[in-house]
Amino acid sequence: MRHLLEIDDLNPSQLRQVVDLAKSPIADNADLLQRQGVACYFAKPSARTRNSTEMAVVQLGGHPVYITAAEVGIDERETAEDVTRTLACYHRAICARVFDHSVLERMAAVNRIPIINLLSDAAHPLQAIADVLTIEEEFGSVEGQTVTYVGDSNNVTRSLALAVGMLGGKIQIASPPSHRFGPVDHDRLAGAGVAVSYLDRPDQVAGSQVIYTDTWISMGQEAVRDQKLKSFEGYCVNDAMMQNNPGAIFMHCLPAHRNEEATDSVLDGHQSRIWTQAAHRLDAVRAVLAWTCEEE
Ligand code: CP
Ligand code: NVA
Repeated sequence: MRHLLEIDDLNPSQLRQVVDLAKSPIADNADLLQRQGVACYFAKPSARTRNSTEMAVVQLGGHPVYITAAEVGIDERETAEDVTRTLACYHRAICARVFDHSVLERMAAVNRIPIINLLSDAAHPLQAIADVLTIEEEFGSVEGQTVTYVGDSNNVTRSLALAVGMLGGKIQIASPPSHRFGPVDHDRLAGAGVAVSYLDRPDQVAGSQVIYTDTWISMGQEAVRDQKLKSFEGYCVNDAMMQNNPGAIFMHCLPAHRNEEATDSVLDGHQSRIWTQAAHRLDAVRAVLAWTCEEE
């Protein structure tokens, strides 16, 4: 049984295989799901992930069923394990966006049907695969590129670091010391052969091929908004930073908090590839569904 909870559930050659699958013609897998259902569970809001996942299921010949947390109530109305056993009666796979990553691990441990992470507090692997597609479209390869992530070390950063590092790129993070990864994360990254380096100040960023940022306040962190805005003063990606990296593209997983983590002029500027990333979300999830579901 194949699940995808985080990028390092794949080894580097499997990651390569999934990325290549994402570039293959849609018609190659048009009947893979053969009218089977895919449960799409969301405990948090979404624009890109819900729409790309539902459309990928359609492109693979299946039927997506959107499920809200209020309806199913994982660990409130029923345990995560029993929800998984129930959904497995009707569906070929479960795609889920949750708060606590351990809920996904418990669902995967039931091992009835593939579980695909649509974002947890710890990881966002489908985003990272779309990001790899964007970098490869621009530069041909991730290998040898320097990707600089500016801001909060979060779920998006973690999956991005794994994907970039496993494909031979260099990943560095410009963030205040209080918002960097800790030893548990560094051990996990090292286990995948990935080393992250840090920059203290965003104006030290130079010579990168990719400047990447995400919100400073992830979903569920609204209570610490003021504190985080203070911590990230000076970390807004602006024109000066992009001009220091003239050969770089700008990336953001979206949704953007305009003029907070990045200025309008950067988000809408000539170096921005944010809509390419958004479009590749569909290719990424179609590939992951095909890869997890094709195995018997
Ligand atoms: N990037 C991303 O996952 O966007 P949504 O939250 O809109 O799905
Ligand atoms: N880090 C953000 C990503 C949103 C797609 C969050 O978790 O809210």
